[in-house]
Amino acid sequence: MLTVRAPATSANLGSGFDVFGVALSGPADVLRVEKATRTTLTVVGSGSQYIPEDPKKNTVGAVVDELDAPARIRIDKGVRPASGLGSSAASAAGAAVALNELYDRGYSREELVPVAAKGEAVATGEAHKDNVAPSLLGGFTIVADGCVTTMESDLSFVVCLPDVVVSTSNARKVLPDGARLDELVETVGNASTLTAGIARDDPYLVGRGMSDPVITPARASLIDGYETVHNRAVEAGAAGVTVSGSGPGVIAVCPDGLQRRVAAAMVGGFEDCGVDARAYQTGVGEGAQIV
Ligand code: HSE
Repeated sequence: MLTVRAPATSANLGSGFDVFGVALSGPADVLRVEKATRTTLTVVGSGSQYIPEDPKKNTVGAVVDELDAPARIRIDKGVRPASGLGSSAASAAGAAVALNELYDRGYSREELVPVAAKGEAVATGEAHKDNVAPSLLGGFTIVADGCVTTMESDLSFVVCLPDVVVSTSNARKVLPDGARLDELVETVGNASTLTAGIARDDPYLVGRGMSDPVITPARASLIDGYETVHNRAVEAGAAGVTVSGSGPGVIAVCPDGLQRRVAAAMVGGFEDCGVDARAYQTGVGEGAQIV
């Protein structure tokens, strides 16, 4: 039997739609996995009532099939589904690490990225890799045209999670079909600024680079209170704020010492809009670990 802790992740960071991702130091899913002749699944924890235990319908079932590795799997969800924190990716990444080890498949972490992405496709309809890559590799990740680049970072974040559900597939339906040239130029500039900020551990550069003119405005319209929460976080000292993944989570990058204040401001912003919320004060974390 193996136990694996697989971290939550935040994808996009505004300007890096389907490209950027960051592993968070918390929350995380914990998977207990043992070899079996047929695959069975038990899911407990945060939002587990919404997650199918039929392996054919669950993100980890596709990973089992990819690795030809049947198993008895228990997932303790620390990452709430439909939160914008890479919940399905955490389970897929954790299963990929556990099964690769138990069955001695010999894949590297990089090679497990497309394996875990098959699981992501079951949950969200598309095999995007910007959540599974950081959940497997840790740090800040850039997924571009099959190439995955990782960078370490010590930045601090607050992720505020409203008590509403937005599925990734629905959040992809509201996106525009294309972008204008000026929007493309702005997005490339912001994404480059953000990457430089990660390299320098500079929250202000990262915060500037989080701005994007195409994806975030469309997604924000699905999150009651987003504008208020964004403004409150900035007033409390956040260096940048954007939608986490496909939402409804909202992520803020914080200068040192301001996390607590920013977290309280974001929760208060949602509550003033009639939405219950909780905040995680978190940082950049490591990839899935066998514990
Ligand atoms: N890049 C994906 C999206 C991530 O924004 O739809 C989903 O968490």
